Amino acid sequence: THCLLIGAPVDTGQRRPGCLMGPAAYRTAGLAEALQALGHRVTDLGDVSCAPVEATSINPAVHHLPETLGWSAALAQAGTQAMAQGMPIFMGGDHSLSLGSVAGMAQAARDADRPLFVLWLDAHSDFHTPATTESGNLHGTPVAYLAGRDFEAFPPFPAPVPPENICLFGIRSVDPAEHAALLEHEIAINDMRVLDERGVVAPLREFLERVEAANGLLHVSLDVDFLDPMVAPAVGTTVPGGATFREAHLVMEMLHESGLVTSLDLVELNPFLDERGRTAHLMVDLVASLMGKKVFDRPTRAFRGQ
Ligand code: ARG
Ligand code: MN
Ligand code: MN
Ligand code: MN
Repeated sequence: THCLLIGAPVDTGQRRPGCLMGPAAYRTAGLAEALQALGHRVTDLGDVSCAPVEATSINPAVHHLPETLGWSAALAQAGTQAMAQGMPIFMGGDHSLSLGSVAGMAQAARDADRPLFVLWLDAHSDFHTPATTESGNLHGTPVAYLAGRDFEAFPPFPAPVPPENICLFGIRSVDPAEHAALLEHEIAINDMRVLDERGVVAPLREFLERVEAANGLLHVSLDVDFLDPMVAPAVGTTVPGGATFREAHLVMEMLHESGLVTSLDLVELNPFLDERGRTAHLMVDLVASLMGKKVFDRPTRAFRGQ
């Protein structure tokens, strides 16, 4: 695979400074080298830069809207271009960068005349609109945006992703307004209750089978807080009870075996909160698993259910 690394030092979607150091931390932790060691070709496109886009919201709590939309436009464009050459990997940056990365992938899917699917690995549902967010933090809004929910403050989403093509995975923090809106959409919600009961394999396999049957493009958005804070402390929005080290690797290995992933976001890493780089290293190791690293090359495939 030709991996295109896109630096997205976005820090405007929440209030705790540090996510802007994410791309540098991934480079320091050896993301490119880990991918090359697996035989992939890597092009680091450097960090994207942008100018603010004029915009306002009816919700006075919303902050840094023009800056965040500036990132969005620039990342969408960089992403669509990168998709034409290989697999874009967005090195964040807070989760508001997905307003742009997924818009870029939706454009690429439209160009390829294939449906887009989105796997959202996160403690949060990120299903606020600018109008409903109480925190005003736009990193809590990308899933609503890509699903095409009313977005008074955002430009229209290129090709909204149908709710049945979206899978939320690892969810354990949902605000009341998000909860109400999610009940009205047919989005697969694999919250931690579901994963405790069924494990990660069966629900993920069900989703991947649908992607495969539809010949879809699959965008994976990996929020650091999908992981339990015990193994991944470098994130501003820790929520206890997350995916374990082993569950996270198993998800990544299944994604690799499926051969379906076409683009990836790495979001919410705040290196300022890390302990000797352990979260950055774990994220790099997870990407390596997603891109084919394994202990033994067994014929057994969890994705196929053999
Ligand atoms: N729902 C909360 C909010 O709107 C938290 C969102 C956290 N999102 C994230 N990408 N970490 O503020
Ligand atoms: Mn998130
Ligand atoms: Mn989150
Ligand atoms: Mn909220």
